[in-house]
Amino acid sequence: MFNITEKKLLASNIKLIKVYAPLISKKNKPGQFVVLRIDESGERIPLTIVDSDPKEGLITLIFQEAGKTTAKLGQLKEGDVIHDILGPLGNPSEIKTYGQVVIIGGGVGTAVAYPEAKALKTVGNRVITIIGARNKDLLILEDEMKTLSDEFYITTDDGSKGHHGFVTDVLKKLIEEKRKIDLVVAIGPTVMMRAIAGITRPYNIKTLVSLNPIMIDGTGMCGGCRVTVGNSTKFVCVDGPEFDGHLVDFDQLLTRQRIYLDDEIKALKLYEKDIGEKRGCQA
Ligand code: NAD
Ligand code: FES
Repeated sequence: MFNITEKKLLASNIKLIKVYAPLISKKNKPGQFVVLRIDESGERIPLTIVDSDPKEGLITLIFQEAGKTTAKLGQLKEGDVIHDILGPLGNPSEIKTYGQVVIIGGGVGTAVAYPEAKALKTVGNRVITIIGARNKDLLILEDEMKTLSDEFYITTDDGSKGHHGFVTDVLKKLIEEKRKIDLVVAIGPTVMMRAIAGITRPYNIKTLVSLNPIMIDGTGMCGGCRVTVGNSTKFVCVDGPEFDGHLVDFDQLLTRQRIYLDDEIKALKLYEKDIGEKRGCQA
């Protein structure tokens, strides 16, 4: 059992929790994730470890309430417990000195980009960050990203803050200005990562993406997280989650991410109905 020690609302449906998980907090490295189950019969979901504090034995997780399980997780309060957490899983990001790096966080993917940006800065890279969201209320970790960045850009799809447009607009501009870019790290919706890989490919700019497929066991057994990278079949949970963006078959990934979409929508609706009825009974 893992105790939730802190809970914060970051944006309308994006929440941060700190969980007491001393062994995971000691072993975790940037880029790694956990698979958790809220209760014994619950669905297993992967979440990237945003931060860890080995002294206090805490890990920080950020999630968007997008389906039944994340909605249920969002209902838990400080002092509640998560039934099991498996991790740290996956390979840590390769943190080394590249020179000038551009880190791009799209929406809730910024939570995953943050530990990587922090680690790349610590080893001496010049860090340019671009974070984007649909509107200003959905931007997360703005101060944290700004503090560690040598250059910092915000984009919003509706123009409510920063550049009016997508993160890709800023990246294109940096490339057009012939800025020296030694590495691009892109983490966010699959369509964003596909677009970024498409922009950097003709310039041969090394581009790493962190993939977020459906995961079940998180240990390479179920095949749920299968992706094609170059000519090889990879399992994101054990071979990733980071891959060369120029080699990922994003179209296949997008199709596989939608396999259970109808069931996910049904499960969320049933859960919301159930919660609504329980609240109605309590009123
Ligand atoms: P979103 O759809 O609001 O998009 C966030 C930003 O990405 C946009 O503001 C825009 O700047 C950019 N973007 C989106 N579509 C684009 C396109 N077609 N071309 C160029 N740029 C584009 O994001 P959200 O609702 O916060 O969703 C976040 C997504 O990130 C979810 O799909 C989630 O599964 C995924 N995610 C990924 C990881 C990971 O490790 N890759 C981790 C957490 C979440
Ligand atoms: Fe089962 Fe990766 S989640 S193989």
